[in-house]
Amino acid sequence: MAKKKLNLGMIGYGFMGRAHSNAFRKVGNFFPLEHEIVLKAACARSEDKARAFAANWGYESIETDWRKLVDRPDIDVIDIASPNDTHREIALAAAAAGKMILCEKPLGRNSAESEEMVAAVEKAGVANMVWYNYRRVPAVTMAKQLVEEGRLGRIFHYRAKFLQDWTINADLPQGGAALWRLDVNVAGSGVTGDLLAHCIDTAIWLNGPIVEVSAMTETFVKERMHNLTGKVEKVGIDDASLFLARFANGSLATFEATRYARGHKALYTLEMNGEKASVFWDLHDLHRLQYFDHADEGRLRGWKSIHITDGDQPYMKNWWVPGLQIGYEHSFVHQVADFVAGLESGQPAGPNFRDALQTDYVTDAVLASARERSWKTVKQG
Ligand SMILES: NC(=O)c1ccc[n+]([C@@H]2O[C@H](COP(=O)([O-])OP(=O)(O)OC[C@H]3O[C@@H](n4cnc5c(N)ncnc54)[C@H](O)[C@@H]3O)[C@@H](O)[C@H]2O)c1
Repeated sequence: MAKKKLNLGMIGYGFMGRAHSNAFRKVGNFFPLEHEIVLKAACARSEDKARAFAANWGYESIETDWRKLVDRPDIDVIDIASPNDTHREIALAAAAAGKMILCEKPLGRNSAESEEMVAAVEKAGVANMVWYNYRRVPAVTMAKQLVEEGRLGRIFHYRAKFLQDWTINADLPQGGAALWRLDVNVAGSGVTGDLLAHCIDTAIWLNGPIVEVSAMTETFVKERMHNLTGKVEKVGIDDASLFLARFANGSLATFEATRYARGHKALYTLEMNGEKASVFWDLHDLHRLQYFDHADEGRLRGWKSIHITDGDQPYMKNWWVPGLQIGYEHSFVHQVADFVAGLESGQPAGPNFRDALQTDYVTDAVLASARERSWKTVKQG
């Protein structure tokens, strides 16, 4: 039977433009879906770059203004893979045009922007999803299954870190291509909205609402040359962000993110300690889940390193044979597969814009807590 078509318009050709395009191309080969994703148009401001990107990934056409892309009647889904300062405006226009929207994280630069985006998609009634892809690393999805099966019991602790080291050099400029993450006007915040947002999304998904936080942030390099103005300007982002949190289920948490942990390139780790069992996951070993079960016979009790490659483990029956692992890119394939399957079943897959808004409420509270040096209650949406 011929597949139904979902015509996709991609905005941005950078890191995420590539990660998403790769997922759109592969998903139909590995997941049995009624729809096929058609790479209809790629949009970037530079015509040459848009053309080269479109040729490389197989997009049928290009646009150099996202407004034109959003207005095209032959586009069903808009994928926002451009920097954070573009998310709100594009999403509002795409929702008004009745398009389904996939948006990169963080949803907005702050929760005020995200609230507008949630209102827009809910008013328009369009399908929407945010690319918090780590939920769909099979080992992380498996942790979620274990929690839901009650295997950890009452949760006491949640611990997450996301460590990088790429901005230590004080001569690194801020702003412009590749360095927009250092420009607070574009990014909204530093590691809080960039790295911690991932940790917070996974944490809420695994362990429920975060109700209060106490944070500290630091900007280690206070001024940097700005690529767009050519002047040395104050750095407005947080280089490091650490916070304590209390979840609604009574568990206590620590979160840490930095771009100043020399030697760490992208080390995301999370751990949950429950009354009956614990889980630990590490992005550098992403196909493994570490699991400790106190119910094991005493003599044999210990941490198990579970290689998540078997057909009865999340997503793995769609890939290779047991024992052969998958990697980072596959989390995006899984997200697309779940998005499309959700459209087909009428049970939309998360995280949607409203779920992502909750992460922004936490990041806003973290930044406010650090600024005001006090505990903050997290707004619940
Ligand atoms: N889910 C994840 O793990 C993950 C990882 C990295 C980045 N992100 C998010 O993805 C988004 C993009 O990040 P990136 O790392 O791909 O950035 P990037 O700098 O690699 O790419 C950004 C792209 O957006 C384009 N762009 C900028 N302004 C535009 C405009 N007005 N119209 C059209 N195109 C425009 C740029 O030309 C570039 O192609 C950000 O929101 C970021 O936070 C998410």
